[in-house]
Amino acid sequence: MKGTFKNAIFPIQANKHKMNELLKRNEDWVANAKAEKPELLKAMAAGQSPEYLWIGCADSRVPAEVVTESDPGAIFVQRNVANMVVHTDYNLLSVVNYAVKALGVKHIIICGHYGCGGVKAAMGNGSLGLLDNWVAHIKDVYDQNSAELDGIGDENDRWNRFVELNVKAQVENMAKLSFIQEEWKSGNSPQIHGWVFDIKDGSLRDLGLTIDSADALSSVYRYD
Ligand code: CO
Repeated sequence: MKGTFKNAIFPIQANKHKMNELLKRNEDWVANAKAEKPELLKAMAAGQSPEYLWIGCADSRVPAEVVTESDPGAIFVQRNVANMVVHTDYNLLSVVNYAVKALGVKHIIICGHYGCGGVKAAMGNGSLGLLDNWVAHIKDVYDQNSAELDGIGDENDRWNRFVELNVKAQVENMAKLSFIQEEWKSGNSPQIHGWVFDIKDGSLRDLGLTIDSADALSSVYRYD
C-alpha cells in the first residue's frame, strides 16, 4: 500500500544501487589512473594550474572535460542554464575573478550548444516557474536580435541561430566585466572565445568571436 514503510524501502534501495554505481565507477577510474597515469594523481595532489576557463551549459550532454578529452586540472569550469554571463551572478563572478586573477587563465571559452533547452524556452511563451527569471536574460538576447531571428522561418534554424547569438552576447558580457578590463589594462591578455557544441555529432566549433580588448565593445561599456 502506498506510503507504508515496507513499500517505501524498495525505491530507497534502488536509489542506493544507482548511487553505488557511481562510486564503483570512481573506484574503477582510480584503479585505471593509478595504472595508466600515476603522474596525473600526483599532479592533482600538488595543485592546479588550468589554462582554460569554460563557461558552459548545465546540460548533462556537454561536459567540458569529456568532450575535449581533458584530464582533471586542465579546465576551470562554471556551468549554468544556457551558459550565461550575468553581471549580478556572484557565483560566476567569483569563478571568473579567481580564474583570471589567481590562476592566470589566458583563455576563457563560452560554450553554447545546439539543442539547448534554456535557449528554446527563451523563444517561447511557456512558463517554467522560477526558471523564468533566469531565462529572462536569454530573452533579452532574443529581443536584441529579433530583427534577424524573427526572419528565420524554420523553428529549428531559428533555435540554432539563437544559440550562436546567445554565445556572442555572453562573450560580450564577459568583456564588459570590470575586472576583465582591468586584466587587459594591466597587460595580461585573457582572450574570450565563443564556441558551440553540436550534440548531434559531438563536435565543437569556434564561432570566430574572440575578444581580447574592450575596443570590441560599444564605448559606454568601456572603463578608463
Ligand atoms: Co543548454
